[in-house]
Amino acid sequence: MAYKIAIIVGSLRKDSLNRKVARSICGLRDNLNCSMIEIGDLPLYNQDLDSDPPEQWTRFREQVAAADGVLFCSPEYNRGIPGVLKNAIDVGSRPYGQSVFDKKPAAIVTASPGSIGGFGSNHQIRQACVFLNMPVMQQPEAYLGHVTDDSFDESGRLKEGPLRDLVSVLAHAFHDWVDMIHRSRAALAEDAAHAAQEAKAREHA
Ligand SMILES: Cc1cc2nc3c(=O)[nH]c(=O)nc-3n(C[C@H](O)[C@H](O)[C@H](O)COP(=O)(O)O)c2cc1C
Repeated sequence: MAYKIAIIVGSLRKDSLNRKVARSICGLRDNLNCSMIEIGDLPLYNQDLDSDPPEQWTRFREQVAAADGVLFCSPEYNRGIPGVLKNAIDVGSRPYGQSVFDKKPAAIVTASPGSIGGFGSNHQIRQACVFLNMPVMQQPEAYLGHVTDDSFDESGRLKEGPLRDLVSVLAHAFHDWVDMIHRSRAALAEDAAHAAQEAKAREHA
């Protein structure tokens, strides 16, 4: 089964390593239909605008809402989440009670030329996902260290090697994670409908 995945990249840089990693992940699985969701044009979140939101917020919310799962690919800025990504998370989480992230399965990848692979940013994103009620894939964790322009071929995809192997395992695992969650929910909904039907039949018996 194929799933629609919203990819949110926490870097606006044209030659972003994280954007290239995200593209590589998309290219590794036919059954992940990925769309890159742009976040660079989102006005800063301001609760005063909830009653008349900017069109960019509405577009972003609709794009995320249409997805079966969300993949965050982000750098680490000063040991934390880049502001542009945090802003997107805040925009998608509101108005209160209407978060487009609610219940969406997620995975988090952080890539950096540094050796700890954006660990701090990765776990700050994870922390937000917990509050947002997003079931986040636990393993494999993806703190991709020592990623440089040289990690990619001319087409911008990861070159063959351990990094590509790890990302490939992650792409497989994320598909299975999204699949398990959606199929479990469908089965539970079917059980509940069946139980309701039986209860109704008993009432009329
Ligand atoms: C403002 C800023 C802060 C950064 N802080 C960190 C950091 O805390 N940890 C880290 O590993 N790299 C840090 N870097 C380096 C980034 O990992 C590197 O620039 C990376 O290429 C950014 O990701 P991108 O290629 O997807 O844009 C920082 C870069 C910038 C511009």
